[in-house]
Amino acid sequence: MFGVDIGGTGIKGAPVDLDKGDLSGERYKVPTPHPATPDGVIDGVADVVAHFGWSGPLGVTFPGVVVDGVTRTAANVDKGWVGVDARAALSERLGLPVVVMNDADAAGIAEMTFGAGRGRGGTVIVLTLGTGIGSAVFVDGRLVPNTELGHLELHGHDAESRASVKAREDDDLSWEHWGHRLRKYLAHVEMLFSPDLFVLGGGVSRKAEKFLPYLHGHGLSAEIVPAELQNNAGIVGAAMAAAKL
Ligand code: BGC
Repeated sequence: MFGVDIGGTGIKGAPVDLDKGDLSGERYKVPTPHPATPDGVIDGVADVVAHFGWSGPLGVTFPGVVVDGVTRTAANVDKGWVGVDARAALSERLGLPVVVMNDADAAGIAEMTFGAGRGRGGTVIVLTLGTGIGSAVFVDGRLVPNTELGHLELHGHDAESRASVKAREDDDLSWEHWGHRLRKYLAHVEMLFSPDLFVLGGGVSRKAEKFLPYLHGHGLSAEIVPAELQNNAGIVGAAMAAAKL
C-alpha cells in the first residue's frame, strides 16, 4: 500500500507494509511549494507518486479538516484549499482511487494500531507537534475525526501559535520554556477531556527526553508517552485508509 503526507514543509510518501505498520522502502520527499496552493501541492503529490511508479489505491493526508474528501480549513497552507474536493482533484490528476484525511487523524490511527496507543482503551488523545498542532481523539479505539484541538484558545492565543514546534523555533525558546507552554496547553486539553493517555507525535517526539520532564503538575496528570512511529505515522495511517478503498 502507499501513503503520502502533505506537511507544512514537505510532501512525503513511501510504500507501506501494513503487516508491520512500517515503511517498506525509503521515503521520498519534495518541498511543499510556497504558497502551498492546491495546484502546486497536487503537483508535489504527483511527483512523489511518480517517483515510485505507484499505480494502486492512494492515501493522502492533509493538514486541515477533511470531510468526505473536501478540504474545509487551511491553517498552514494556502487558503485556496478551503472548499476544494481534494479527493476528486487528486484522483482525476493521478488516475488512481484516492482517500484524503486529516494528517493527525492518519497519524493517530497508525499510533493506535502499531505504536504507542496499541491496545489502549478509554480516551486517548494523539497530538502531532510540528508546523501546527494536530489532534486525533480516540474513545475505546474509535476515532472522532477532525477534532482540531490545536486551535483551542489559550490565554487569548490560538494554542498552536504558542505551543507548536514552529512556535519554539520562531520564538527561539529553550526546551524548558517551550515545555512549560506545552504543559499549559496539555493541562487545558486534560481539563476538557480527561484523557487516559496523551501520545505526543511529530518529528519532535524523537527528542522527547528534552521536554517530557516539564510535562507534569499544574493540572496535568494524564499519562503522557512519545509516539513510536514518529514522522512516518501519517504515511502509515494514510496507507491504512487506502487499503480500505
Ligand atoms: C490544522 C490541523 C492539522 C494540524 C497539524 C493545524 O493547523 O488545523 O488540521 O491537523 O495543523 O498539521
